[in-house]
This record gives sequence, structure tokens and C-alpha cells, in this order.
Amino acid sequence: PNKVNISTELLTWYDAHAREMPWRVPPQARLRGELPDPYHVWLSEVMLQQTTVAAVGKYFHDFTTRWPRIQDLAAAQDADVMAAWAGLGYYARARNLLKCARFVTSNLNGAFPKTERELMKLPGIGPYTAAAITAIAFDGRASVLDGNVERVMARIFAIENPLPGAKEELRALALSQMPNSRYGDYAQAVMDLGATICTPRRLQCAQCPIRPKCRAHAQGIAPDLPNKTPK
Ligand code: ADE
Repeated sequence: PNKVNISTELLTWYDAHAREMPWRVPPQARLRGELPDPYHVWLSEVMLQQTTVAAVGKYFHDFTTRWPRIQDLAAAQDADVMAAWAGLGYYARARNLLKCARFVTSNLNGAFPKTERELMKLPGIGPYTAAAITAIAFDGRASVLDGNVERVMARIFAIENPLPGAKEELRALALSQMPNSRYGDYAQAVMDLGATICTPRRLQCAQCPIRPKCRAHAQGIAPDLPNKTPK
């Protein structure tokens, strides 16, 4: 059991520095009880799996303007959705997107399930997307593990064991850092830290809210982590 915990610092930092995104509800509004539309969270997370936040903006706007509810997307012509997806790449994702929209509309009355287990049964939804929807859309207790989270954990705990072998160790560390509330904000806080401060290169450790707890920083090896097994 490790006694280090970064969630309080990270949430306080997120309250002041959360990036604004069209599909997000800002931390101040979430603290008042507002949550985002699960359809928006799902759509943005699927789009973000292959494209940067900046590039997704236009696609997210186009999709939600044209198909404001999941029922609208479910009723769309395949060719229209594929055309709107053009430029995002990985067209299997767009096919699964439609399959998922139709399943949720036809079988679940248009409502996404709230648990990772149920979400993972849906087309195109794997462990990452299921955890992201549970935490961000429903504020359920789910630990979201992506490349950002792995990098942040590898550095805080100075894990020199290389990826992909270290994946399970990093997953356990991420789980150990979960707060007891605000799961959605916490997931997005780690992502924002990884995207803006604890970046792969040109790290911004001077701005980092958890630098005092970062073992890699103390050892001067933060830029070198995570290690990767050469291909
Ligand atoms: N990348 C993938 N999902 C994200 C999110 N919810 N916020 C920021 N970056 C992300």
C-alpha cells in the first residue's frame, strides 16, 4: 500500500486549470451537480481515440448539430455518417459508432448503461471508453487508463520497468490514486495534466501541482519515463 496520493492536488489544480472543451461540463458546474450528456461523452471519447482535441472540435460540432440525440444518429443513413466521419480515419470506428447508436436506441431506450461491465458489451466500447463514460458522464467510480495516465503514474512513482510490460503495475498505481468522489473530474484532471504539463517532451515541471510528490522529478529522470521496450 502506498501512502502517496495525488488526487487532492490534482483536483485543486483542475478547478483552476481545466481545459474548456465543447463536450465538457466545467468543474464548477459539476460540483453543483451538473453532468454532461452521455451521448456527447461517448461521441467525443470515440473521436479522441485517434485524433487530437483540437481536430475533434469541428467533427464533434458537426455531428451534434446534425444528430442532436443518439436516436437521430441511429436513424441516419450509413453513407451520411461515413461521409461526416471522413478525415477522422479508422472507418471501423464509424461503423461501430452507428451500430452502438442503433443498439442503445433500439434496446436501451436511448440511455447508455452506467457501469463499465455493461458498457463493454456495446459495439466499439473497450475498457478505456467504458471507464471514461462511467466516470465522466455518470461520475461513477472508474479508473481511466490511457497513455497520459500511464506516463503520469510512471513518473510519480519512478517506474523504470518498460511498457508494455509495466502496464498492469501502472494500472494498479492509477487505481491506488483514485479520490473518494469527483471521479469524472479526476479522470479529466489526469488527462489534462498529461496533455499540458506532464507531456512526453518539453515537460512543464515548474507548473506541476504534484511536483513535490514526483519521484522521477526528484531523481531527475522524469523526461526519460515511461521507458519502452524497443520494438
Ligand atoms: N482525451 C481523451 N479523452 C479526453 C478528455 N475527456 N479530456 C481530455 N483529453 C481527452
